[in-house]
Amino acid sequence: MPQPRSPVPDFLYGTAWKEDRTPALTELALRMGFRGIDTANQRRHYFEEGVGQGLAAAYRTGLVTRDDLFLQTKFTYQPGQDHRLPYDPAASLSVQVAQSMASSLDHLATSYVDSYVLHGPSSNHDWTDADNEVWEAMQKERDAGRARFLGVSNVSLPHLQQMATARADLPAFVQNRCYARLGWDRAVRLFCRERNIIYQGFSLLTANQEVLRHPLIARLAASANATPAQIVFSFARTVGILPLTGTSEGEHMQQDLASRDLTLPLDAIHTTESLAG
Ligand SMILES: NC(=O)c1ccc[n+]([C@@H]2O[C@H](COP(=O)([O-])OP(=O)(O)OC[C@H]3O[C@@H](n4cnc5c(N)ncnc54)[C@H](OP(=O)(O)O)[C@@H]3O)[C@@H](O)[C@H]2O)c1
Repeated sequence: MPQPRSPVPDFLYGTAWKEDRTPALTELALRMGFRGIDTANQRRHYFEEGVGQGLAAAYRTGLVTRDDLFLQTKFTYQPGQDHRLPYDPAASLSVQVAQSMASSLDHLATSYVDSYVLHGPSSNHDWTDADNEVWEAMQKERDAGRARFLGVSNVSLPHLQQMATARADLPAFVQNRCYARLGWDRAVRLFCRERNIIYQGFSLLTANQEVLRHPLIARLAASANATPAQIVFSFARTVGILPLTGTSEGEHMQQDLASRDLTLPLDAIHTTESLAG
């Protein structure tokens, strides 16, 4: 049976570190207008079951249906987890991926996720055999219809280059922490742009406090009648970054979404891109 295809939204709501507030904040984010939700089957930082509860509440009130949403979750290796594992650690990595996916679908009460992301490669330096095994297992999940797209997170340019050498099947998404001092992850973004990979940026605000305080950003914010945070999100989108926000405030949710209506002058975009690196 063909599956409904919600488009990739232009803003993702991140559900990390919300613990007991996860259901209410997920529902609030949907009420405010977010249609893309990012989570992970990693209880240490995310409460994926709570995301499912928030979705269920939104479905009950008729706010949205599953087809309206873009749901993204992740497979996390054991070293990134605490004792609350979504798989048998004694099982092979392929089986761990299948078990983690089954648990995610159960948490989110759905038959498929829109995006399934490898939370981080097994080594900070190289794309390893373990990553190949996990990636193949993730491809099986996708081919079985349980994930529409695949992604990788916390990757360097060498990871992606090695991945390209090892596997023809590149991810649809890269999700990285986006530091302005690294040219907003310039090298990885360029790799993604050349291969039609959508680059998702997180910690756009928390990793770039010096940008938020910069006089140029203050001037841009004043002339656009916007906040520095909105300028950063608007800038990000203009240079092709699909932004995530992890705000816990309804007002900030509104402001973050409203940043989509801002248009920044071209010279300001160029200056911001090399503001810190
Ligand atoms: N793949 C990974 O390894 C990974 C790692 C980290 C995060 N993520 C994902 O990315 C999501 C977002 O994480 P993040 O690090 O970008 O965000 P975050 O750490 O959750 O925090 C965003 C911060 O920005 C503030 N903020 C948001 N909008 C604002 C606004 N309009 N004005 C002023 N302050 C604002 C928030 O404060 P208020 O709450 O007061 O608004 C909060 O302090 C996570 O929830 C998770 O889904 C993924």
